[in-house]
Amino acid sequence: MEKTLSIIKPDAVERNLVGQILSIFEKNSLKIYSIKKIKLSKKMAEDFYFVHKNRPFFNDLCTYMSSSPVVVSVLEGDNAVAKNREIMGATNPKDAAKGTIRNLYGISLDKNSVHGSDSKENAKIEIDFFFKE
Ligand code: CMP
Repeated sequence: MEKTLSIIKPDAVERNLVGQILSIFEKNSLKIYSIKKIKLSKKMAEDFYFVHKNRPFFNDLCTYMSSSPVVVSVLEGDNAVAKNREIMGATNPKDAAKGTIRNLYGISLDKNSVHGSDSKENAKIEIDFFFKE
């Protein structure tokens, strides 16, 4: 069964949306395989988003992601990576399809409520980043 990594970002955790977002995963046949609430350090955020290190938004993104707690989970199901991306909607909430998480709850490109792995390869790397024993 395929797995993917999800992060419920500070804006959604602060607004008490964790339960509603997890329930959207479950209604779409994604099982919550592992889950934890943590506050990222700036260094952890920088390591996690390393692929974006040369983008102009990198510093703001890492400052924001380490500003207050996030909920990190491993989701499991058929085509979990693609399914989670479909459920999340486009990165910018303005472009996200109706009924997707970012359409329902996203505030801006940074405060877009959720992160999800973009490929099976990155899902493995991102799951290991947070859950490697
Ligand atoms: P996420 O899926 O967490 O991956 C990187 C994040 O960078 C992205 O969601 C956005 O919240 C944020 N971001 C900020 N500016 C941009 C941008 N111009 N393009 C893509 N992502 C951006």
